[in-house]
Amino acid sequence: MAVTIKSQREIDLMRKAGEILAATHDELARALHPGMSTFEIDRLGEKIIRGYGCVPSFKNYNGYPASICVSVNDEVVHGIPDKRRLLKEGDIVSLDAGVIYKGYHSDAARTYGIGSISAQSQKLIDVTRQSFFEGIKFAKAGYHLNDISKAIQTYAESFGYGVVRSLVGHGIGTHLHEDPEVPNFASRRKGILLRPGMTLAIEPMINAGRADVVWMDDDWTVVTEDGSLSAHYENTVLITDGEPELLSLPVQTSI
Ligand code: MF3
Ligand code: CO
Repeated sequence: MAVTIKSQREIDLMRKAGEILAATHDELARALHPGMSTFEIDRLGEKIIRGYGCVPSFKNYNGYPASICVSVNDEVVHGIPDKRRLLKEGDIVSLDAGVIYKGYHSDAARTYGIGSISAQSQKLIDVTRQSFFEGIKFAKAGYHLNDISKAIQTYAESFGYGVVRSLVGHGIGTHLHEDPEVPNFASRRKGILLRPGMTLAIEPMINAGRADVVWMDDDWTVVTEDGSLSAHYENTVLITDGEPELLSLPVQTSI
């Protein structure tokens, strides 16, 4: 499938999808507390998304059984919400969610600490988030996809962290996953030339230890092979003539 350039109408719909997703993440972040089950997070997330008249895009996607991917500690992504899995102080938890608004998708992930967490855990969360912002310095018309990937990798690896290779970001629009793939590591190829109107879900997944991951028996949950902690940060990004627009972050007002 070719990489699509979104029209103004499509961009407006994706902005709205992103705005709703940003609000959903904010509300979920405020609800997190020790003792909360990962199942409760999913129930609340789905309720919020449907409250906006949107559809949670992950629900039943390739058979995924929930609306929010909840991945705790050494779980990298795609953790399945579970009534028996209770968050405890010191855990880190990644929440990944997607919404569909009038046929258009947004996709975003955040990693949070529960209660007070270790300095090492906080650093992994901060570096993972910052690796995204290092990457999007190159999310501009005229750069190539590999410039984004290389910047994410270089930054994360400078802290000795492992950049997950087995999962990548992606184009997004009328489908959750569109071309191109957006790796978080450099390739020998420079990748596509970025053009205004392209929409990408850029999503570094960074391990405190080695980069290797394995799938659990539920066929969804991805965990670090060495048991180290993992963090995830993702936004839906619009390429423009100037600075990229982060569709799944709250709209910045300048006062
Ligand atoms: N945010 C994830 C991604 O970009 C989507 C989760 S997969 C699902 O691939 F099956 F849970 F939907
Ligand atoms: Co994604």
